[in-house]
Amino acid sequence: MPYDFTGQVAIITGAGGGLGRAHALAFAARGAMVVVNDFGGARDGSGDSDSGSLSPAEKVAQKITDMGGNAIANGGNVTSEADMHAMADQTMDAFGRIDILVNNAGILRDKTFTKMDISDFKMVMEVHLMGAVLASRAVLPMMQKQEYGRIVMTTSSSGLYGNFGQSNYSAAKLAIVGLANTLRLELFKYGIRVNALAPVAATRMTDDVMPPQMLALLVPESVSPAVLYLCGRDAPNGEIITAGAGTFARAKILESEGLFLGVDATPEMIAENWDKLSDMTTAKSYKQGSDQSQKFIVNAFENKV
Ligand code: NAI
Repeated sequence: MPYDFTGQVAIITGAGGGLGRAHALAFAARGAMVVVNDFGGARDGSGDSDSGSLSPAEKVAQKITDMGGNAIANGGNVTSEADMHAMADQTMDAFGRIDILVNNAGILRDKTFTKMDISDFKMVMEVHLMGAVLASRAVLPMMQKQEYGRIVMTTSSSGLYGNFGQSNYSAAKLAIVGLANTLRLELFKYGIRVNALAPVAATRMTDDVMPPQMLALLVPESVSPAVLYLCGRDAPNGEIITAGAGTFARAKILESEGLFLGVDATPEMIAENWDKLSDMTTAKSYKQGSDQSQKFIVNAFENKV
């Protein structure tokens, strides 16, 4: 059974509430031993991170234990390298292995780009991008040793497509996709697969951006099956799943076949040929960046530059 997680250990960051809590409960319900990480801060990332309030994480861990599952709480801040190493050590001490990491912790500091304090831009990058980097780095030595691992990055439609007032969040969320794109290449030989999730759910992050009728449909629990799918034994590698209110889809970065215009092409030629070179009917997704370079070189050779 690829989606029975008995004997496996899953770390979920930011699992004291919202989507992370739903993922933690879903993994526990299918037999996983769960590490519930959360530093217990406010939606904008402010709060008592230094004292490492365990209460939201502890509550979720307690709920899992009450259900007959196996969970521990961790109050680490994902922006701290020391905290993420301590989280990995705590997991190894408690459970002896690490199979799954869901990088879910996140904050919002919305404002239009020109009005935003640079400190708010940096903080959002720090939590989403560096948080995913530090948590992944902390667990990877164990996953590599075990020759098995599943990592899920939490991206967003805001990163994939843009969202007014969220330049910091959009940049951070697409940066994590870039991270996943390369990790999936580097880690595949160790049996580790890296994918991304773009969820939509009613949580404290969205409670003031959508009307109550919409929020009622967007239960966080409806997203978690996508995370479990991405962490199964048969998981894909390098995919982006979008999920919300019961709909699941695949997102992909595609490039048109293009048109060889010559090394001395002009902007006028690009404008004249825009319809042809931007035709997406035969668009492709590349396995790695060098596949795109290969296309350029082959086109140039075939056209005898
Ligand atoms: P949430 O605010 O309910 O949950 C985020 C959790 O992360 C909180 O419990 C918070 O304490 C924790 N956290 C924040 N900074 C942390 C840090 N430095 N260290 C440890 N924990 C930290 O929000 P939600 O909606 O559950 O978000 C979960 C993830 O899903 C986030 O990455 C978010 O950006 C992403 N997302 C959510 C969407 C939605 O519709 N709710 C849409 C797209 C992406």
